[in-house]
Amino acid sequence: MEKTIGFIRVTTAVFCLVFLSNTSGFAATQLDLSIQADKPGLKISKYLYGQFAEHLGHGIYEGIWVGKKSSIPNTRGFRKDVVAALEALQIPVIRWPGGCFADEYHWRDGIGPAKNRPVKINTHWGWVDETNAFGTHEFFDLVEMLGTEAYIAGNIGSGTPREMAEWLEYMTADGNTELAKLRRKNGRDKPWKVSFFGVGNETWGCGGNMTPQYYADLYKRYATFLKAPDGNRPKKVASGGNDAHTDWTEALSGIKWNIDGISHHYYTIPSGEWPVKGKSTGFPEKEWISTLFNTMKIDGYLKRNEEVLEKNNPQGNIGLYLDEWGTWYDPEPGREPGFLYQQNSLRDAVVAALNFNIFHQHVKRLHMANIAQTVNVLQAMILTDKEKMVLTPTYHVFKMYVPFQDATFIPNQFKSMPKYTLGDVSVPQVSASTALSKEGNVIMALANLDPHNTAQITASIQGFSAKSAKGSVLTADALDAHNTFEKPDIVKPAPIDVKVQKGKVSLELPAKSVTVITILK
Ligand code: AHR
Repeated sequence: MEKTIGFIRVTTAVFCLVFLSNTSGFAATQLDLSIQADKPGLKISKYLYGQFAEHLGHGIYEGIWVGKKSSIPNTRGFRKDVVAALEALQIPVIRWPGGCFADEYHWRDGIGPAKNRPVKINTHWGWVDETNAFGTHEFFDLVEMLGTEAYIAGNIGSGTPREMAEWLEYMTADGNTELAKLRRKNGRDKPWKVSFFGVGNETWGCGGNMTPQYYADLYKRYATFLKAPDGNRPKKVASGGNDAHTDWTEALSGIKWNIDGISHHYYTIPSGEWPVKGKSTGFPEKEWISTLFNTMKIDGYLKRNEEVLEKNNPQGNIGLYLDEWGTWYDPEPGREPGFLYQQNSLRDAVVAALNFNIFHQHVKRLHMANIAQTVNVLQAMILTDKEKMVLTPTYHVFKMYVPFQDATFIPNQFKSMPKYTLGDVSVPQVSASTALSKEGNVIMALANLDPHNTAQITASIQGFSAKSAKGSVLTADALDAHNTFEKPDIVKPAPIDVKVQKGKVSLELPAKSVTVITILK
């Protein structure tokens, strides 16, 4: 898979923050924050907290689904431990079955009695057998178990418009058609709710190596036949570009109807180069800062694509769907490289927080974001090894940010912001995001990117009379601190001490940490 990521260089444009001073020595930085609770903005869509689960390595098989006969405790084949952990994240949407896998997936292979399902090759990911034991019925069983919504990725690369249209009909038909009857025969009476339907994936690459214009025409053709009954029509998402590219958004935002979103992908790589990306653990501080620097580029990439949307779609009905994001490291030694299994450390936790804080500023056009991927693949929430399971630092950040789902954005501003610098790379020391929760409380998320210096925050809130506050902090001793099956609690949230005096909220952020607090009136 060819991708390009620019070389690391210092630029202030990415950060939208003014760096006024530098830190030297290891000390507490004093930071004054002003929060404008009297200036509520747009809703922070819960869909920014979406997940992505692909038929890839142990992402689904073993990671989520083990089959009914497994000795691993399961409910209808789903791991009880993993499902319980995922429930706590209040996942709003899951994208499935790919990724690159989507454009070689033929849905009819994955329905009917498991013993009759054909075994195929997963040509993208490890060239391993794909048993099709996990198919449409199993996916919706998971969706309903988690109380989440379905984002189906259809096959435009190697499938026909008829195949795609019939899959949607199979899932949503409520009448007496042949496909509705087939679904019933296979055990599901009522139609499922399909909230989102993606027309292909990365069609610039693994989805068919197309040009933006060729795909735009193909999108219109396939989308024309994607029909569903009233009340169960999915939002349709075109497969867009990646990284800094805007040419896909340019071509697709000219489509006048039958389109609700354009996808975009961005993976964070420590080195910024695909051939040697960097290790998931045991990395130098140089790769701590480069990873944080690189992940923040998403801010500029979103802005560029949003500008194109504003120009071509001023009516605003087309959203950006960042339906793949997260860290991507070199394969772990001894693991099948095609399975994209990687450890997940405190650095990933800070990456997740930085991304959320950036996403919150883009809610006007950013309608969805899906981390890649839920279990055992890339920046996962959960890692498993047969019957063992461990929650990652990224899992904890997703859980800490749950109150931000469907909260209302409120602006905030630091009086000044020191930078954390190493060599020729600089990032702001602290990233913050604030919102009004559904209950009317102020919620505040803070990431301290600096691995050496604590930050003393004093926040004043306009239009809100703060009385008390509580919250939790995620940190650890080492840059690459991570949880293992043997030591699952090395990185886990702990309560943080927050003081509220005369309406001002103060707390100290440990070096290299993520904090989320709720301020009550
Ligand atoms: O998430 C892993 C892969 O990354 C996806 O299958 C593909 O869409 C992207 O290149």
